[in-house]
Amino acid sequence: MRVVVVKSLEDMGKEAGAIVAEGMRAKPHYVVGLATGDTPKPLYRELIRLHKEEDMDFSTTVTFNLDEYLNLPATHDQSYRYFMDHELFNHVNIVKANTHVPDGMSDDVETHCMVYEAMIEDVGGMDCQVLGIGRNGHIGFNEPGSSLASRTRAVDLTDDTIEANSRMFANIEDVPKRAITMGIGTILESEKIIMLATGPGKAAAVAAALEGPVSVKCPASALQLHPDVTFVITEDAGSRLTLKFRR
Ligand code: PGA
Repeated sequence: MRVVVVKSLEDMGKEAGAIVAEGMRAKPHYVVGLATGDTPKPLYRELIRLHKEEDMDFSTTVTFNLDEYLNLPATHDQSYRYFMDHELFNHVNIVKANTHVPDGMSDDVETHCMVYEAMIEDVGGMDCQVLGIGRNGHIGFNEPGSSLASRTRAVDLTDDTIEANSRMFANIEDVPKRAITMGIGTILESEKIIMLATGPGKAAAVAAALEGPVSVKCPASALQLHPDVTFVITEDAGSRLTLKFRR
């Protein structure tokens, strides 16, 4: 795995943006897996800049988001559909019909998850998956203990994740307790993976992912099994790595 340690959030956006842009320029109908949360925002700012200042074209880009809360309508300002529209899609020339976020209001979640997987397969799989990491090592909402072969499905969120996400809601009671997430097996099938991490709170999870054993205790450690992963992290998020990963 490659590790790029950056000095600022802006640099993280630029490093990750360059990888995504290179793929998009090389392949029409580039299929990108996207993440929500605070971490990928600098990347989305950079993609918007590339569109506005360097004519980067999103008209044939296809996206699949990692996850979505269950029972939160897409119109809710904490839904991941709302996040993606506001942080990226509304600012570039992407075709909304080519953007996919799991439907947290589906009345048949199991079938919806199977269809989501089939849609990814129909477009030939993901070319590039963008990930953040939870303090507990989760990727998507694959919490510790998730099967490394898991597929898109409904999951329960851990107390740690609910607590971490409560900063976005008025009360912790308002944080949804369940979500739909792509599986770890789904994520690992992406051609290329970019993992983003910032802040000291992520340092232990980043170290476990890169240097710990491949274990369901740290779902992100499954990335060690993938041939093309780039971690783009700030210095504080990399502070618990051994020197071989720093430069
Ligand atoms: P964050 O979330 O980017 O808001 O820290 C990351 C995650 O939990 O996967």
